[in-house]
Amino acid sequence: MKVTVLIPAAGSGRRMGGEIEKQFLILGGKPIVVHTIQRFQDSDLIDKIYLIVPENRVEYCKEEIVIKYGLSRVTEIVAGGKERQDSVYNGLKRVNADTDLIMIHDSVRPFFPDRIIRESIEAAQRYGSVVVAVPEKDTIKEISDDMIVLKTIARERLWRIQTPQTFCREVIISAFKKAIEEGYCGTDESSLVERAGLQIRVIIGSYLNIKITDPEDILLGEMIMKRFNF
Ligand code: C5P
Repeated sequence: MKVTVLIPAAGSGRRMGGEIEKQFLILGGKPIVVHTIQRFQDSDLIDKIYLIVPENRVEYCKEEIVIKYGLSRVTEIVAGGKERQDSVYNGLKRVNADTDLIMIHDSVRPFFPDRIIRESIEAAQRYGSVVVAVPEKDTIKEISDDMIVLKTIARERLWRIQTPQTFCREVIISAFKKAIEEGYCGTDESSLVERAGLQIRVIIGSYLNIKITDPEDILLGEMIMKRFNF
C-alpha cells in the first residue's frame, strides 16, 4: 500500500495580515508548515510527501524547511496555483502511477491526533474516499449582504469538514478532471468527488485540528501545543 501526502501550502494568508504567509509563521520555534509535515514524516504509513508552495518560495522551502528540518519523506516541492484547487492539481499531476492512496492535508493544520492517519488509510482502502469531520456546535444561519438573517439551517446533520482527506488515486484524479472540464472550483477536495456522484465516508476528527487562519489562531495554536504535547 503506497500512500502519498499532498500538502497545499501555496496560499497567501491574507486573513492573517503581515508580510509572511501564515504557513511560514513561527509557532513554538518552527514554521507552522514544519510542524504539519513532521506529523507525516514520523509515520511509517506514509511513502512520499509533496509540498506545494508559492512559486517564489520553492527555493526557500527547499533550504529552510526540507533540508533544515531533515524532512526526508518530502520527495518534491511543487509550485502552487491561484486557488487551492489549482495548487492541489499541480501536486496531483506529479504523483507516481504506483501510488494507491492520496492524502491531502492543509499546511496549517498541525494538531490532528495520530490515529487519524491510520484510520483514514483503513477507511480509504475500504470506501475509496474519506474525510475527517466534527459535529457543528453553533447554530448556523444564512445572512444577506446587508446583514439580515435569511434562514436557519438545521444543525443536526451539519459537520465541519477538516483535513486530511484521503482518496484512491484514480478516484481523485478523475474527480479533478471532471471539475476542471465543468469549470467547478471547490473549497475542498471531497466536494469534487461528491460532484462526481461517489460516496465519501466520514471519520471523526478533532476540535483541536484547527486551521490556523486568523491572528488569534496563533495564540490558540500555542496553547494547544503546550497543553496537548504536539
Ligand atoms: O485558503 P485556505 O485557508 O482554505 O487554505 C487552506 C490550505 O490551502 C492552506 O494550507 C493554504 O496554504 C493552501 N492554499 C494553496 N494554494 C492556494 C490557496 C491556498 O495551497 N492558492
